[in-house]
Amino acid sequence: MDIQLTHHARFGGCAAKIGPGDLSNVLCGIDIPEDPNVIVGLKGFEDAGVYRISDDLAVVQTVDFFTPVVNDPYWFGGIAAANALSDIYAMGARPITALNIVCFSPKKFGIPVLREILRGGIDKVRESGTSLLGGHSVDDEEIKYGLSVTGLVHPERIVRNEGARPGDRLILTKPLGSGILITGLKGGRISKKTETRLVEVMATLNRRASEAMLSVSAHAATDVTGFGLAGHLKEMIKESLGAEVYADNLPYFPEARALSAEGFLPSGLYRNRDFYAPFVEAGISGFPLNLIFDPQSSGGLLIALPEDEVDGFAQEASRLSVDYWMIGSFVEEPKGRIRIR
Ligand code: CO
Ligand code: CO
Repeated sequence: MDIQLTHHARFGGCAAKIGPGDLSNVLCGIDIPEDPNVIVGLKGFEDAGVYRISDDLAVVQTVDFFTPVVNDPYWFGGIAAANALSDIYAMGARPITALNIVCFSPKKFGIPVLREILRGGIDKVRESGTSLLGGHSVDDEEIKYGLSVTGLVHPERIVRNEGARPGDRLILTKPLGSGILITGLKGGRISKKTETRLVEVMATLNRRASEAMLSVSAHAATDVTGFGLAGHLKEMIKESLGAEVYADNLPYFPEARALSAEGFLPSGLYRNRDFYAPFVEAGISGFPLNLIFDPQSSGGLLIALPEDEVDGFAQEASRLSVDYWMIGSFVEEPKGRIRIR
């Protein structure tokens, strides 16, 4: 199984390559229609697009699907759906409708497997309070599943990936290392207990984390997916500020450390490292570095919180049983760079 996420392929950057992968500037030079009601479009490199319907209402749209990350079809469906919904939550929006996207060969895998994938997805869609309206399938030898999701948000309450300010605290709401564990899983090298925990974390909706974020005034947020902590943090700082990450505060699945030492590293980790390492200043090597470059499937929210909102967030997170870790802060200098301490 290949876990490389097609997710977040970067469209629109023409001056320079702005992310790993061949698609990062594929739309360069192609004329894209403009519309004043597009609040967040192709140029923002945001988690989802936003379109204004009226002064107090905007729709948020996103689409995400990928190849199996776990062997159990039900949980693959659940994780893929949680991952697709996550971009809506990262924008501070509320999902309302979803469509299934299915690539599947009934001849090769059998209809019962597809039913399990869809059942897992639908259970997550239901848990999120979203209505499933339909979907589309294509006969394909390689299984892929995900959702297109539409959400609603007040145009002034959108939480973008940029907007963090120096002094803001950096919060992460799920442990890192899922890419390493999935690689270990494929090699038959992780314990049943760790596999259960991995599935549980990846299938957890970012809904309550988003609610905790919305209970305070967060400056910015995104979700950690295919480009890893380093890549998604780089989107938050771009060239306008810097970030410090405390290696000792990084949450991770305990078994990831040994797997990393044994070389169970996903190909996406190398791709992320090649692309983002020039922006990372690290006095360390080995495991913590692998963690920050590890591509995540259905990872947590990465939130920029002003210092005086931290207590309020902590209270709401504890009330909603949301795990979170304070993993760093935003700094004025050096701009565009991530310093690991
Ligand atoms: Co996405
Ligand atoms: Co995202």
